[in-house]
Amino acid sequence: MSPAAPMLVTEPAAIAALVGAARDRGRRVGFVPTMGALHEGHASLAAAAVEACDDVAVSIFVNPTQFGPHEDFQRYPRSLEADCRLLAARGVRWVFAPTVAAMYPPGNATRIVVEGPALPFEGALRPGHFSGVATVVHRLFRLVPADRAYFGAKDWQQTVVVRRMVADLGLPVTIVVLPTVREADGLALSSRNAYLSADERRRAVGLHAALVEADSGWSAGTPVETLEARMRRMIEAHGIAVDYASIVDPESLAPLQPAGPDTGSPGAGCDGPAESGAIALVAGRLGRTRLIDNRLLATRRPPGTT
Ligand code: PAJ
Repeated sequence: MSPAAPMLVTEPAAIAALVGAARDRGRRVGFVPTMGALHEGHASLAAAAVEACDDVAVSIFVNPTQFGPHEDFQRYPRSLEADCRLLAARGVRWVFAPTVAAMYPPGNATRIVVEGPALPFEGALRPGHFSGVATVVHRLFRLVPADRAYFGAKDWQQTVVVRRMVADLGLPVTIVVLPTVREADGLALSSRNAYLSADERRRAVGLHAALVEADSGWSAGTPVETLEARMRRMIEAHGIAVDYASIVDPESLAPLQPAGPDTGSPGAGCDGPAESGAIALVAGRLGRTRLIDNRLLATRRPPGTT
């Protein structure tokens, strides 16, 4: 027997009532916010939520406020029917797919601004991006009052920004961060991979290859600047224009400190990947397509040891 299709809900008040009623009955609710064009990365979040929770809601909303004026909001892939089929197979209960007007009523004028870890990298290259993400995620958390919300480590900076917002605003939700799902050659699954030509798709593996290289250099105690330069060269060698290739503190996203002071990490209350002292973050452009990736770095051998 094929699994039950999830209930498709478009009205904010309706999803709030359904999820609220489930919570009132003592059900543990999981939530996976997405922009649709779902792939196995999204599916892994939904499956983990179904595993750990009684009822799971997935939102599908291409959020205009997180796209810059010259970015891909218009051409972002949209495939609601296929998305619902994929989620049915994972046992998801509700799909919340609102319109832009429902999420941003005429005259809306309020945005959430996160500073600190939202400022570098994607925040510097995509002004307003994380304000759009924080605003929509906050609104979604109000409409879908879940116990647990699931995010992918693929968008590492986004997970830091969301955890920061949840800690700062005291939102009653536990953020769960799950590992990046990859193609066989290491390319991180992304809805934007659909934009790549066959040749670009072959070259896109350069981002992951650079991260693997950085990881082994990191374990061997190679200096950070050497590793950053090496990543940059490897990415460029694949014909990818580098936006950044950096190794930083995974919580503050600030440059690494030898024995740093407390950075006020929002990590408490988060079920995430094992603690790691550093993360390599990369971003680059293949033609008109922009891709990002990252890797938490393994334990570092102290310099001078063998
Ligand atoms: P979207 O890009 O659709 O991603 C939805 C969730 O899926 C995010 O938490 C993202 O990190 C995760 N994800 C994407 N690719 C993944 C992969 N290969 N492996 C594991 N998880 C993966 O991120 C957004 O949407 C939006 O910014 C959103 C949070 C929905 C706010 O609009």
